[in-house]
Amino acid sequence: MSKFWSPVVRELEPYVPGEQPQIDGLIKLNTNESPYPPSPKVLDLITHDTIDRLRLYPDPNSKKLKNTIANYYKVSGEQVFVGNGSDEVLALAFMAFFQQGKPLLFPDISYSFYPVYCQLFGVTPQTIPLREDYTINFDDYPLDNSGVIFPNPNAPTAIGLPLATIEALLKKNTESVVIVDEAYVDFGAETAIALVDKYPNLLVVQTLSKSRSLAGMRVGFAVGHKDLIDGLDRVKNSFNSYPLDRIAEAAAVVAFEDDNYFCECRDKIIATREWTVAELEKLGFRVLPSQANFVFADPVGKNAADIAQHLRDQKVLVRYFNKPRINQFLRITIGTDAQMQMMIDALKRYTR
Ligand SMILES: Cc1ncc(COP(=O)(O)O)c(C=O)c1O
Repeated sequence: MSKFWSPVVRELEPYVPGEQPQIDGLIKLNTNESPYPPSPKVLDLITHDTIDRLRLYPDPNSKKLKNTIANYYKVSGEQVFVGNGSDEVLALAFMAFFQQGKPLLFPDISYSFYPVYCQLFGVTPQTIPLREDYTINFDDYPLDNSGVIFPNPNAPTAIGLPLATIEALLKKNTESVVIVDEAYVDFGAETAIALVDKYPNLLVVQTLSKSRSLAGMRVGFAVGHKDLIDGLDRVKNSFNSYPLDRIAEAAAVVAFEDDNYFCECRDKIIATREWTVAELEKLGFRVLPSQANFVFADPVGKNAADIAQHLRDQKVLVRYFNKPRINQFLRITIGTDAQMQMMIDALKRYTR
């Protein structure tokens, strides 16, 4: 605490990211990164010419990347916004749309950055409980709101919502922006990008950090009606005109162009997930249905915090949230087959 801090900073409870420890041989299953490297074509970008051009500012509008994403999802370049990770895109969206004096609605169990952005940007949060089975229930979402935001699949539950359920929400919630945070959508859920031309208040946010193996590059994007994108641009250009550096933009373009590589990695992760779920169930875990690159697993009758510590002692890092309703779960990122085998073997050595 310093007397120089503003009242807002004094009150902040910043987001705590998953650990990035530098421990040799550690199996890192705690931050939902991809276990596979980015497309090998990303390496071809690192030429003398690329390095020489780092003297120059990048394209402030990242036009090439926007057009690549637009082609991929069959929308226009004007419907795409890009930023330095989807966290930044979300932050700019909070500033652009939710400071409206009414509450922003999101599930009680959801991405823990949403309440932090609410504090930072003076947005009033209203959390709506998930059902007993941890699914989102939009029947409980009041229409008098400044917006609605939820991940699909949800984090950390990994449960996906069908597109029809999202469309039913959009049909009734027409007077505020609805953000679908699709950080994990590629692993088995359906993207709502198909609905952006029908609903001018829908903004879909995605990231290249998970299914495209570029967490270290920090690239995220949003797709929505041109007017929503204009709003985001106004905020971005009042904050940081060059959110994507030259190499990040070029790597992101390649990550979309190399679709075969993307599909190969995604399919491997899905297959490994299904194997992991079966193995965890054999060990007596209850695993929520996952459409993501992680599973949320309850070691029924055993202490999840203690198991997380045991795994850590065995050099396997998973995420444990000491929070109401979810403190009996472990969130386990899907790694390679070999890593998951080692995680399961380490669990078998747990004897308490
Ligand atoms: C639900 C959700 N949204 C957004 C993000 C942010 O991703 P990034 O900033 O790496 O694009 C994450 C990261 O874990 C996430 O879990």
